[in-house]
Amino acid sequence: MSTVAIEQLKTGMVLADDIFIFENKLLLPKDTELTDYMIHKLEFYSIKKVKVKDSAPSEATAPASSEDDSYSQRLKHSQEFKEFKEEFFKNLYVLKTDFLDIANKDKKIEPEEFLNRVDSIIEHAGSQSVFDMLHCMREYDDSTFVHALNTALICHTFGHWIHLNEDDINALTLAGLLHDIGKIRVSDTIIKKTERLSPTERTMMQAHTVYGYEILKNQDIDERVKLAALMHHEHCDGTGYPKAYEASQITDFAKIVGIIADYDSLTSARPYREALCPFEVIKKFELEGLQKYDPSYIMTFLEHVSNAFINHTVRLSNGETAEIVMINKQFLSRPMVKTETQFIDLTKETNLSIEAII
Ligand SMILES: [Fe+2]
Repeated sequence: MSTVAIEQLKTGMVLADDIFIFENKLLLPKDTELTDYMIHKLEFYSIKKVKVKDSAPSEATAPASSEDDSYSQRLKHSQEFKEFKEEFFKNLYVLKTDFLDIANKDKKIEPEEFLNRVDSIIEHAGSQSVFDMLHCMREYDDSTFVHALNTALICHTFGHWIHLNEDDINALTLAGLLHDIGKIRVSDTIIKKTERLSPTERTMMQAHTVYGYEILKNQDIDERVKLAALMHHEHCDGTGYPKAYEASQITDFAKIVGIIADYDSLTSARPYREALCPFEVIKKFELEGLQKYDPSYIMTFLEHVSNAFINHTVRLSNGETAEIVMINKQFLSRPMVKTETQFIDLTKETNLSIEAII
C-alpha cells in the first residue's frame, strides 16, 4: 500500500481505504478502481492524498494508444482531450459558484464572462470537434452543472449549424447554460432520486422551469434566455410543461434548447441508467419524439449528430465492430456500416443495430 497525492493518481489504481467527506459521508469505498471521473471528484472535495494498493494496475501499464485503436480511444488518449477536460472542469467549478450566487444572492449575470468561459473550453478542443470531445466525457458526471455546460456547448455548435449570427449564437449559448438554473431551488433528494418520482415530486421537479424564469426575470440579459428557462420542457404537440403550450406559443430558443437538453440527458449517465449511445437516442427521437419537437430543428439536429459520427468505430448488437461509412437520411439511426468483411446497410438488416460508439 502507498500514499499517493491526488495529482499523481492514475486511472486503474485501486483504493486501499474508504474515502469519507464531510459528516462522515462515504465518497468512495475501499477497493474502488479509480476512473478519471472519480479522480475529479476527489479533487472537487479537496482531498489531498489517498492510500492505494501497490498491486493496482496503472495507466503506465495499460496498453498505449496505437493505430489500431478506434478514433474515440485515440482521442481519449490525446493531449487535446486532456487539455479540453481540464479546461471544462476548471470552468465548471467557477460557473457552479456563480450559478449558486445568482440563484440565492441575486448576483448580477455577466453574459460576457460566461461566454468567455464557454469560448475558452471550445478553444481547448483545438482541431477536434467539441461534439467528439463531449462524447468522450460521457462517463464523467450527471450533475445539473455538467448538463448546463454540455447544453451550452452543443447550443453553440448548433447555432453554427443553422447559420445564426454571432449575437444570436451567444444568446443561444447563454440560454443553454442557464436553462436549468431553477433546479437549484429544487430539493437535492428529488434531483438525485434514482427511483421513479411520485406525482407530487414530479410537480416539484417540473417547477424548476418557473423557478428558473423567476431567478432570471430581473436580470439584464436577452429575453430569449429567460423564456428558454421557462419553456424548454414545452412540447410542440402540447404535452409539455409548465403550461402545455402549443408549438406557436413556444419560442425558437426554447425549442432548440429543449432538443439539445433532452439529447444531452439521454446520452449522459444517470444514477439509474448508463449513458445511451447517440444512435439509440436518435432511434428514440425517430420512434417517439418527432412530433414533440419543431420538425425543422429536430431534423437539422439529428442529421448533424449522425454526420458527426461518420468514420467512427461502433459496436453492433451482434458484438461485431464496424465503421460508419454513410448516413441514411430517411432513417438516421440506421446508417451504412463497414465491418472487416462486408458493407451492411442497417436499414435492411433490421435485426442489427448500433450498440455503442467505441
Ligand atoms: Fe429542465
